[in-house]
Amino acid sequence: MTIQEAILARHSVRAYQEKPLTDDVVKVLENEISEINLKNKLHIQLILNEPKAFQGTLAKYGMFRNVSSYLVMAGKKADDLDERVGYYGEYLVLLAQTLGLNTCWVGLSYSKVPGTYVLNEGEKIACYIAIGYGETQGTGHKIKTIEQVSNVSERTPSWFKKGVEAALLAPTAVNQQKFSFEYVGMKDGHHLVRAKKGFSMIGYTQMDLGIAKYHFEIGAGKENFEWV
Ligand SMILES: Cc1cc2nc3c(=O)[nH]c(=O)nc-3n(C[C@H](O)[C@H](O)[C@H](O)COP(=O)(O)O)c2cc1C
Repeated sequence: MTIQEAILARHSVRAYQEKPLTDDVVKVLENEISEINLKNKLHIQLILNEPKAFQGTLAKYGMFRNVSSYLVMAGKKADDLDERVGYYGEYLVLLAQTLGLNTCWVGLSYSKVPGTYVLNEGEKIACYIAIGYGETQGTGHKIKTIEQVSNVSERTPSWFKKGVEAALLAPTAVNQQKFSFEYVGMKDGHHLVRAKKGFSMIGYTQMDLGIAKYHFEIGAGKENFEWV
């Protein structure tokens, strides 16, 4: 499965089989996580065979079942922490999908179990991502139109529309999709695109933006443009 195919196949999955992640899959994920952490000042941790974080009232309310592996999405406190967590978390989510796994971003419905993760000075947890072999592959979410979230027109390049379409398939908190993409034009021979987050009472819009920007890059082709 390619990353483009993973974008189409991915849906949030909240009920999992009682089957631990295979050693091969764990090795691939651990390697990627080490590299991401090193390069991007993040402290993402893969926690295996630990069911307690998803056994509390909140998790049951969130309809989670049999979650025993998850990613703790942590990093040093910074203004752009949520966006980096979104971007690299979605990189791992789509990689996991290509490895035959399912996932669900979790902003609220989990418990932080002491002793299961490590936080260094100045670090905080932004969210968790449940990971495992789903009971099902999940279902598609309601999506906005490309016109609602972008300035796509007959004058914008075809890759721009593909980027917006990929972004609309991205997970966002409560499926709020409070992001927009603007094709700005050319500067010094480069196409420029601006991504913006909208307002939401729920929050998580900066994390959602990081997630949507990664999808946009996959759909549009990173080589075709630069972010403003
Ligand atoms: C930042 C973020 C936080 C989320 N938090 C939760 C959560 O606490 N509980 C939950 O069940 N789903 C959570 N979700 C999953 C969304 O509800 C889901 O992505 C959205 O409804 C779109 O559905 P899809 O992922 O199947 O495409 C979260 C998603 C994101 C991106």
